Order: sequence, then C-alpha cells, then structure tokens
Amino acid sequence: MPENILIAIAWPYANAEIHVGNITGSHLPGDIVARYHRLKGDNVLMVSGTDSHGTPVTIAADKEGKPVEEVYKKYHSGFIDLFQQLGIQYDLFTTTHTENHFKVAQSMFLALQKNGFLFTQKSMQWYSPSSKRFLPDRYVEGTCYICGDPGARSDQCDKCGNVLEPEKLLNPRSKVDGSTPELRETEHFYLDLSKLEPEVANFLRERSGYMRETVMGESLGKIEAEGLKPRPITRDLDWGIPVPVEGWDDKRLYVWFEAVIGYLSAAVEWAKISGNPEAWKNWWVNPSARAFYFIGKDNIFFHTALWPAELMGAGGQFLQIFAEEEGALTMPYDVPANQFMNLEGQKISGSRNWAVWGRDALTRYDPDALRYYLTVNMPENHDSDWDWKEFVAKNNGELVATWGNLANRVLSFCYKHWEGTIPAIDPLTLRSADLELLAGIETGFESVGGFLDGVKLRAALQEAFRLASTVNQYLDRMEPWQAVKTDKDSAALTIYTALKAIDSLKVIFTPFLPFTCEKLNGFFGYETPLFGKSYIETITDALGEHSVLRYRPVGSGAERQWKPSELKPGAKLNQPGPLFKKLEESVIEEERSRLGK
Ligand code: MF3
Ligand code: ZN
Repeated sequence: MPENILIAIAWPYANAEIHVGNITGSHLPGDIVARYHRLKGDNVLMVSGTDSHGTPVTIAADKEGKPVEEVYKKYHSGFIDLFQQLGIQYDLFTTTHTENHFKVAQSMFLALQKNGFLFTQKSMQWYSPSSKRFLPDRYVEGTCYICGDPGARSDQCDKCGNVLEPEKLLNPRSKVDGSTPELRETEHFYLDLSKLEPEVANFLRERSGYMRETVMGESLGKIEAEGLKPRPITRDLDWGIPVPVEGWDDKRLYVWFEAVIGYLSAAVEWAKISGNPEAWKNWWVNPSARAFYFIGKDNIFFHTALWPAELMGAGGQFLQIFAEEEGALTMPYDVPANQFMNLEGQKISGSRNWAVWGRDALTRYDPDALRYYLTVNMPENHDSDWDWKEFVAKNNGELVATWGNLANRVLSFCYKHWEGTIPAIDPLTLRSADLELLAGIETGFESVGGFLDGVKLRAALQEAFRLASTVNQYLDRMEPWQAVKTDKDSAALTIYTALKAIDSLKVIFTPFLPFTCEKLNGFFGYETPLFGKSYIETITDALGEHSVLRYRPVGSGAERQWKPSELKPGAKLNQPGPLFKKLEESVIEEERSRLGK
C-alpha cells in the first residue's frame, strides 16, 4: 500500500544565501528521503519556502538599504535557483509572504485563542526614542548579564550560548543608530505552553523508539528538566502577518509562531495551484500519513515543542475555522534534526565569508559531486567538517573509483564488443557466481531502503557503496576483459550480469545522485526518466506576485521503481560516457584561499 509521506523542510530566512551547512542540514536529507519514497510509489508531498518575515529579514534590508519586500524576493529567487541546480525537488517551495499563508496562520491563531491557549500580558520592552518605535530583540545589543560579553543580542548571547531575558541586558544600544533605548510597557499575546506541556511531553515519549537521541535530549530532556513556559507570539513590528484581533494593528505575529505554520499552508497552496484544492488533506487530515521534518539542531525546540503545541492546542478548531469541517491535523512523525557542519575546522560564518556557498560551488563542481560529499559527511549524530582535501579524496577515491568507473567501464566495454547492445544471453544459462552476485545486489533494496526509511542516510549510502564493491570484486574474479578474446559466450554472461547489477544499483543510488543516475538510465536505453522535472511559476494574489518552485512527476508518479532491474538481453544501449569528473589536487589550495576573504 502506498503511504502518504509529508517531507517538511526548514524554511530558510531571506537574509543570506544558502551554504553547504544549510544544504546538508535540511534540504538535501529531505530530498533524498523524498526521492526514495517517490521511487517506492508512495504519495510524497515535499514543501518549504522562504521565511520572509521577522527581524533577521528586516535587519538585512536595513543593512542593504532596500525595501524588505525587494530583499526577501532577491534571496527567494536565489534559493529557487539553487534548488533547481542541485536537484532539490520540492513539490512546492513558496514563501510566507502570501495571502494564503496569512490566512492559514491567522486561522491557527484564532483556533488557539478559541481553545483558551492564548492570553495577553504587559511587559517592558526596549523602545528607541530616536526612532520612535519598539526595538525587537535582535535590534538591541549590549553586555551579557551572564558572561559579561559586550557583543550579546538582547535575546541571546552567542558567546555563552544562553537565551537572555531582554530587559536584563546591560549597556543596551540600538542596532539601528547606536542610541540608548529605554524600557517601556507593551502588550503581547502569549501561547500558554505550560498548559500544553504534558501533551507535548507525551507526544515526544511516544516517539522515543526511533527519534534520534540528539533530538530527544534537546526536546524531552529539556522539557523534563526545565518545563515549558508561556511564550509571546506577537511583536511590535510592521513587517509580517497582522494579528487578527481588533486594536492590534501595530503588532505582528512572531515569525517563529507563523513560519512553522508554513508546512501546513504550503500544502494548502500546493493543492490550490494543482487544481485539486482538497488534496492537502491527504497529508494533513489523515491519521496514517507520516510527516518528517528536516531541520538543523538550532531549530529543534520550535519543531518538537512549539509546533506540536500549536497543532495540539488548535486541535479540531483549526479545521472548523479554516474550512468549517471536522478533523484533527497530522502530528509530526519524526524530526530527524541534523547537527552542524563546520568548514575546515571552524564554524561556518556568512559574515566572515567562512563558507562554501551553494550556488557559487555549483559554478565549479557538478551537483552530484557536492551531493555525494554532503551525504557521506552529513552531521547526523554529531557535528561534521567540510574539508577540501577530503572532498577531493572522496570524489576521486570513492565516487569516481568505486562507482563511476564501474558503470563506465562495463558499459563502454559492452558497447564496444556487443555492437551497442546488451549481450543477448539466455538468463537460464546464468552461472551460480552470476546468480549469487545478483541476489546480493537485490538485498540492497531492503537494506538501503531500510536505512532510508529510518533516515540513516550515511549508512544507506555506505551500504550502496558496499554493494557496488561486490560488483567490482566479481569482475576482478571473472575477468571478462580476458574472456572476451577466448570465450565470448562466457564473457557475455559476465557482462550481462554486471550490467544488470549496475542497472539495479542505479535505482539504489538515484536518491543520492539523481543527475548521474538519470544519465546512466539514458545510457541503458530507457526512455522514461527516473524522476520528473522542477519548474518555476509565478503566482498572483492580494499581496502581489511571488514565484514558486514546483515539481511535475514522471508518469502518474505512482509507479514503483524501487525494485531490481529486469534488464532485457539483446536490447539497445546508447553511447555511454563518464558520469563523474576526477578533481585536480590543486583544487584544495585554490578553494582554501577563497575562505575568509
Ligand atoms: N528561518 C529559520 C532558520 O533559518 C527556520 C524556520 S523553520 C520553520 O533558522 F519551520 F519555522 F519555518
Ligand atoms: Zn553571555
């Protein structure tokens, strides 16, 4: 039975380009798992979008001296371009600045309010007399009252890592003009997380069989130790989603409160523009759907506590308000958050240009070479490190040597000696060594599939490579390169067997290496590609225009392709060529010298 799988990927802030840490943290693992389920014939919906509101974005706009709207759109179209080039195949990559998202987020707010999970409270907030407005947390810097670091933000100190109570900050100054702000009273809506604490804790306990230890520690561990406290979910800002309550015109919904709602609103938008406006419910109002959230470790609280609390607190009320229907929303099934990727031993830092930027790297390297290194080095359970020397070594020594050469060598040899066709052997004459190899490869659909299903992507790719090595060992033993001269029939059996193994491995590798596997699929003479195509579309609504990235599946999208090859003896091949490029050692110094400049 095909499953309904929601792949929900963290929404990148529209304040910087995407670097390799972001890619390996969320977009790439989400795409790999989505592709696996698509190959299995499951109903996959993969969504995300640009996180266009909040102070990270307004600060970037201030810095660039441009309107926020223009700045968010600039980064947004860069993200879309990157995903298309890197093969991150979103069913919908949209933005939080849409009429649809406003409506879904406001309905969520109203549902929580109706169910009694919101209250208002007055508090003291930094106010800038010179700019005549309240300054959001990120706009105020000063001295950390815990460690004394002079460069702390009012809500967080990067030096000691503590979350701060903004009004306790010492020596505050405004990031806008350096002036000294003063504390003034303001009023905000709060989400009463303390009321929802038992439910959130239970939700996490129910997942303790499979949720990563690192994620459990950050979520349930923290809740058990510190409890959940009410959190303000509105801000004194003018960029963002209006609070749907009369008299609150000068406030906006807090960016984290509304951005997570994007997973739901993007599904609604996808359904609408796909011409089947009810279709989002297949994932969102369906107790058997499984929702996976791909995020970095800095987002764990928001996805394991805040978002589940919003979903449980809104309960059936959301559908009542939004669609006048009954039904509960799907809870996250798993939140396989990744740790961080460093770069050459140091924390990635955009402002210091200590980063490998996605689009820039794609001007020099093929997407699958990047995807490969970002998967073998994925920070699944602990921080990892992007090291240029290792990038070159793994590209040349593993990707090219073990897998690329295997495919290229066998296909070229066959193309040359069998006139561009697959040897027309009788499968009943295959020898035990041939059958043994193929049986081994076939187990890969279970073993690699099992790892992918459990979101153990490094283990999955390692297992795929182990299988590729068994084909290399088989060829070393059978020596078809010699046999072709003395016993061509025996060489034909060997080459047919190796090709069939490679054809199966092509499917197993394709979630990781979609571009080269598609190419390989073409060499084999198949006319139907493995995956569909991504394309850009412009949508117009009451807020103006926004571009989105969409996905057109191949065929009905429901064909099961995650299965062993049924390679036809005698069929025509297409002229093969190399799949990957060997990299020069000089790349290492060249790339290192770009860093930090
Ligand atoms: N924009 C946030 C970040 O880059 C992530 C938001 S994830 C979401 O850290 F689900 F809340 F959108
Ligand atoms: Zn500190």
